[in-house]
Amino acid sequence: MEKSISIAIDGPAAAGKSTVAKIIAEKLSYIYIDTGAMYRALTFIAIKNNNDLNDEEQLMTSLNNTLIQLKPSDNGQLVFLNGEEVTETIRSSEVTNSVSIVAKHRKVREEMVRRQQKLAENGGVVMDGRDIGTHVLPDAEVKVFLLASALQRAKRRHEENLSKGYESDLNVLMKEIETRDKLDSEREVAPLRKAEDAVVIDTTSLSIDEVVDRIMDLVVERN
Ligand code: CDP
Ligand code: CDP
Repeated sequence: MEKSISIAIDGPAAAGKSTVAKIIAEKLSYIYIDTGAMYRALTFIAIKNNNDLNDEEQLMTSLNNTLIQLKPSDNGQLVFLNGEEVTETIRSSEVTNSVSIVAKHRKVREEMVRRQQKLAENGGVVMDGRDIGTHVLPDAEVKVFLLASALQRAKRRHEENLSKGYESDLNVLMKEIETRDKLDSEREVAPLRKAEDAVVIDTTSLSIDEVVDRIMDLVVERN
């Protein structure tokens, strides 16, 4: 494959975006950029700074003083916040249940999009999030919108938690996922939405490999 293209993967919580994005980036030797981790990192620091999560200016002060770095490693992508590794810490339920409040603010999103576009400026990227196809990379050659039923997504997260040795309750997980999807879809600025030119893949009954194969077909087609 000669040209380095941009691949945008959007969709609701736990649809499988980061899992397939990482595999595709590896297959193509592209950079993988997890934009959700950037919003999670800001949420983590804002909680630590005792910010009012509804106060955009407080959040902007935290964001402007925060260096967020995404670094590939043999164990997947690592997230660093002002030099400190926070990869797992930013997946806590405290952060998960607050991140959509932080992500609704216009100035926060503008700064995040600026950072994300800078990371992607040379192409050769697979980026996953909620507004990649619509706002961050509107010219991406491949745009995918992953879907799966809320129950299936909660089951996947539940199994993932069990495999990491964490207790979790399927019904609570499903409610949290639905609440987050609603906040992300109904916010005013860059809501979770399928780009007009994105291809929808319903992954409810697909394996990870099947989803990867479908996206790789699109990559070959559009390259
Ligand atoms: O992995 P999971 O689906 O649980 O979420 P994530 O990708 O880590 O994203 C966490 C949250 O960040 C989302 O629920 C959104 O509120 C926000 N987000 C966003 O607003 N825009 C993005 N491009 C990525 C994430
Ligand atoms: O990034 P996002 O929140 O969209 O989802 P993820 O963290 O990549 O995936 C959630 C869980 O679903 C992971 O444990 C995956 O292994 C699993 N899974 C999947 O991603 N895709 C399938 N087709 C089946 C399972």
